Amino acid sequence: MVSFETGLFIPKGYDPIQKLYKNEVHEIIKARSNADNCDVVLKITRPKIDNIKLISKLTHEYDIIKDLNFPSIIHVHRILSDGKSVCLVEEYCSGESLRSRIFNKGIVIKDFFEISINIAEALNYLYLHGIIHKDLNVNNILVYPDNKVKIIDFGISSSNQAEDHDYLRPDMIEGSLVYISPEQTGRTGYSVSHCSDLYSLGIIMYEMLSGKPPFDSTDPMEVIHFHLSRKPASLLKLFPDMPVGLISIISILLEKNPDDRYQSAAGLLFDLKVIFDAVQNEKIPVSLCSKLRTGLVNLKRFKSYTAGKKKFQSYINASKPSSIKRQCWFWLQDIRE
Ligand SMILES: Nc1ncnc2c1ncn2[C@@H]1O[C@H](COP(=O)(O)OP(=O)(O)OP(=O)(O)O)[C@@H](O)[C@H]1O
Ligand SMILES: [Mg+2]
Repeated sequence: MVSFETGLFIPKGYDPIQKLYKNEVHEIIKARSNADNCDVVLKITRPKIDNIKLISKLTHEYDIIKDLNFPSIIHVHRILSDGKSVCLVEEYCSGESLRSRIFNKGIVIKDFFEISINIAEALNYLYLHGIIHKDLNVNNILVYPDNKVKIIDFGISSSNQAEDHDYLRPDMIEGSLVYISPEQTGRTGYSVSHCSDLYSLGIIMYEMLSGKPPFDSTDPMEVIHFHLSRKPASLLKLFPDMPVGLISIISILLEKNPDDRYQSAAGLLFDLKVIFDAVQNEKIPVSLCSKLRTGLVNLKRFKSYTAGKKKFQSYINASKPSSIKRQCWFWLQDIRE
C-alpha cells in the first residue's frame, strides 16, 4: 500500500504502485490503469493553498504534448482535475535517466552515438511541430537499455518559433542552469529558438563523453558567466584521439551565438550519422580515452599510457577497475595539466 500526503489528488480508476519522484510542486507516481491494466505515470500538483500557477503550468504541459506522436517523446493520455489539483496521466517509461546512466554504467562510444542520434531525431520532430523544449537536460531524458530515449518534462516548453527572454535573477531563470543556452539567461539580446535546445544537447553530449558538463559551479552567477563567455575545456586535449569530426560537431552546438550553431537538428543528424558510420567501419580510430572511460577499458593499455606518471600508479594499484573508470575524468584533467 503506497501512502501519500494529505489531500493529494489520486484520480479514480488508477491504482498507485510506486512513488517515483517528489519535488516542491509535483508528486510523480507509477500507477496501474484499471481500464486497460497498463502502467502509467501520474504527475500531480501537490496540494497547496495557491495552486493556480501550478495548475496552469501542468495544463500548459498537457497542451504542448497532447498532439505529439513520436516514439522518443513521452505520450500523454489525459489530464484530470478535482477542482483544486490537476493530474497528468502519461505513459510509463521503464528507462533510467541519462544522468544515472552516465554515472552508473558509463557510455561507450556506440551508446554515445545512438543516444545522441535518438535525441536529435526527437528534436527534429519537435522543430517540425514548432516546439522548443527549453529544459533539455540529463534528468529529462530517460534511456532504455537499447539506447532508445524518451524526452519528458515539457513544463516550460513553448510553441513559439522564437521568444525573447528578459534579464532575470539566476534563481528566477527557468530551466536547469547548467544546461540552458546563453540566450535563455536573458543576457545576450538573441531570441530563444529551437537552436537553444541544440545548445543544451551540446552540453549533454559533452557530459556523455567526459562524465561532466562543461560549465559547472556551485555559484549560479558563475554558471551563467561561463555560458556567456567561457570556452569549454577542449575535448581534443582531454581525449587526444577522439574523432575530430565529433569534436567539431560539439563545438558547433556550443557556439555562444545561436546563428553560429546548427540551424536544424536535421543538419546535426546528418553529421552525426556520417561520423558514427566512419567510427563503426573503423575508418576513424576510436579514442583510447573514450574506450577507457566507458567500459571498453583496456587496463593494460591504460597503465602503459600513464606509465611514468607516478601519481596514477598508486591509484591504479589500489583500485577496482570499476572505480578506475569513474576516476578517469580526473586523471585526464591531470594529464592535461
Ligand atoms: N513518464 C515517466 N516514466 C517514468 N518516470 C518518469 C516519467 N515522468 C517522470 N518520471 C520520473 O520523475 C522525474 C521527474 O519528472 P519531471 O521532470 O516530469 O517532473 P518535474 O516536476 O518537472 O521535475 P523537475 O522540476 O525536477 O524537472 C523524472 O526525472 C523521472 O525520474
Ligand atoms: Mg524534470
